[in-house]
Amino acid sequence: MKTNEALVIDLFAGPGGLGEGFSSVKDENDNPFFNIGVSVEKEPSAHKTLTTRAFYRKIKDLRGGLDSYNEYLCGRITRQQLFDLFPEQAEDAAVETLHGPKALGDDNEVIHQRIAELVKAHGDGPKVVIGGPPCQAYSLAGRSRNAGNKSYKAEDDHRNFLYREYLKVLSIAQPDVFVMENVRGILSAKVDGEVMFPSILDDLRKPERATNIASPEYKIYSLVVEATDPHNPVYQDSSDYLIKAEKYGVPQARHRVILLGVRSDIEKVPNILARPNEQVSVKQVIDDLPKLRSGFSKRKDELAAWEKVVSQNSAKIKALLKKRFDGAKSLDLKPFTNLARSATQPTESLALVPKGLTDWYRNNAPSCVLNHETRGHMDSDLLRYAYSAAFTQLSGGVSPKSRDFPEALAPKHENWRSGSHADRFRTQAANKCATTVTSHISKDGHYFIHYDPKQCRSLTVREAARLQTFPDNYLFEGNRTQQYVQVGNAVPPYLAQQIGKVALELLSQNE
Ligand SMILES: C[S@@+](CC[C@H](N)C(=O)[O-])C[C@H]1O[C@@H](n2cnc3c(N)ncnc32)[C@H](O)[C@@H]1O
Repeated sequence: MKTNEALVIDLFAGPGGLGEGFSSVKDENDNPFFNIGVSVEKEPSAHKTLTTRAFYRKIKDLRGGLDSYNEYLCGRITRQQLFDLFPEQAEDAAVETLHGPKALGDDNEVIHQRIAELVKAHGDGPKVVIGGPPCQAYSLAGRSRNAGNKSYKAEDDHRNFLYREYLKVLSIAQPDVFVMENVRGILSAKVDGEVMFPSILDDLRKPERATNIASPEYKIYSLVVEATDPHNPVYQDSSDYLIKAEKYGVPQARHRVILLGVRSDIEKVPNILARPNEQVSVKQVIDDLPKLRSGFSKRKDELAAWEKVVSQNSAKIKALLKKRFDGAKSLDLKPFTNLARSATQPTESLALVPKGLTDWYRNNAPSCVLNHETRGHMDSDLLRYAYSAAFTQLSGGVSPKSRDFPEALAPKHENWRSGSHADRFRTQAANKCATTVTSHISKDGHYFIHYDPKQCRSLTVREAARLQTFPDNYLFEGNRTQQYVQVGNAVPPYLAQQIGKVALELLSQNE
């Protein structure tokens, strides 16, 4: 590692969204500023994705590196063959991801030792911890409430576990800066009726309180709201820590709490994220991907049978929507012929605005499309998907609620009309940003219907990855279900890059 680079310790890394964003940040000499020293992840498929990506970063600027990586992405060589071509970098990537999935808590000996080694070797250089513990009950933060309860031991409370692990790493690594991401629920999580977030902030300000390991103190900043007193950042409202990704160039309404911890001795004050002028829509980022058909899940999957069903459905949908929308008659539902269920051949080039995002997706783009394969659906769902997509198109971007479905299309579901499943078949409207891509997308895809009624399907992993702003050469390893989970869990890398730039400014100013 070069001396002026920042060491990054990536915890609960998932498929590596935060790491990808940080790794892409360049300093004023156009050199990468952040260097991931270690990524900790316990789930095997996400770990495999992380290792592949770590390897890519190590070979992309070497002679033949990109070509060989492309050969692997496009299925012409195996992963092992790729690694054998660059054995030193393959070993470095394995070291970066700790030679296998590792769990904070269970594998602390290995994890802590590696972090301590890296920190020592990095000397006075800047250090950053990224990632956040999955939101559990955070009851550790409620220990003052439990103080009167003699039989209560915070250590025995499983829910404390990962939060405590996170604080421990802060105490060991003593980073200049940390970035902790979490779901919105962390703001309102309660223990014994008490909202935990203020205590969580206190723990993060003084990790020693919870870990009993001597550690520096931190100031906790919002990345979207200016603090009234920047040297003692406190905010009016805990929602000031909430980042709405769609306001920062991500084509998806993803609202996450992201805390920026800055070691107290650092005088410089971080900037807040700059807002671009435009919001980006679903269509802008996925329309260029090859068109695909869905399959059948409950019967033999044959193209001719699919085309027949879709053609019959078209007529039914027109008849149903005619009553509601004047434009229904002229809606183009003429089925595509010979659609495949997966495609690796790129079609048109991405004609996106804004340009910065196009460059982001297409940097070192592969000559094939990755992770772009559809799922099978039940016959009855094909009709609902096409209806939902056609309705959304005709309404100008409003996906139908359960009350907008005719009786003939109602699923046999007790709660269907109760309102609790009002959004059960949700089309991601072409002209809007997507709703939050969650790991639920791995289950059935009903909430992630493609806006094209002629494709009758849910989004592919690649389409979901575009909504999450993963570059096109980011390969998700594991089976399709695992790939969806990884994408749904991730921090959008394009947003992470913007956060990384704030951290760069802070740390380079600090030098
Ligand atoms: C929400 S995802 C994190 C997303 C990630 N930070 C990113 O930037 O894309 C949380 C991840 O933590 C992992 N995880 C949960 N418990 C863990 C543990 N004890 N040790 C390591 N990883 C863990 C999960 O497998 C999951 O992949």
